[in-house]
Amino acid sequence: MTAEAERFSMTDDPLVAAAREAFADAYVPYSEYPVGAALRAADGTVFVGCNIENANYSNSLHAEEVALAEAVKHGHTEFDRLAVASEAADGVTPCGMCRQSLAEFCDGDLPVVCDEGDEVTEYTLGELLPDTISLETLNDAAEQRGQR
Ligand code: THU
Ligand code: ZN
Repeated sequence: MTAEAERFSMTDDPLVAAAREAFADAYVPYSEYPVGAALRAADGTVFVGCNIENANYSNSLHAEEVALAEAVKHGHTEFDRLAVASEAADGVTPCGMCRQSLAEFCDGDLPVVCDEGDEVTEYTLGELLPDTISLETLNDAAEQRGQR
């Protein structure tokens, strides 16, 4: 846990409950490590995802990216909270790839709530992934090349 992250002894957060429910649908014959994610859009709609593994391991989908894809395909691109839970209730955080995927749509101050069973730890996306590459990064580079 980083210095800024806060730990709360409260598990009645409905978004954490949604993430816990979501891992029930996980397809994890390889890792046997079900993960659920619940992403709340700016209008309050909650989108959930679970991990879906594949015999070609690298094709496996992560819970956070499934939730994000579900939201974006329904026209939502602004979010204000994410919860992640594993069956192990071990405080799993989004992996590096998922952090980058979330950063495409979410600001650094997005609360990321990670389930530890009796407690949750709350990070911000910016803590988990500082200095992300973004559309602005690429636009700035194009401008430097004189292309935009
Ligand atoms: N997993 C997620 O779904 N989200 C993460 O960001 C961490 C890892 C999944 C991928 C794989 O199915 C299992 O957890 C073990 O890595
Ligand atoms: Zn991931």
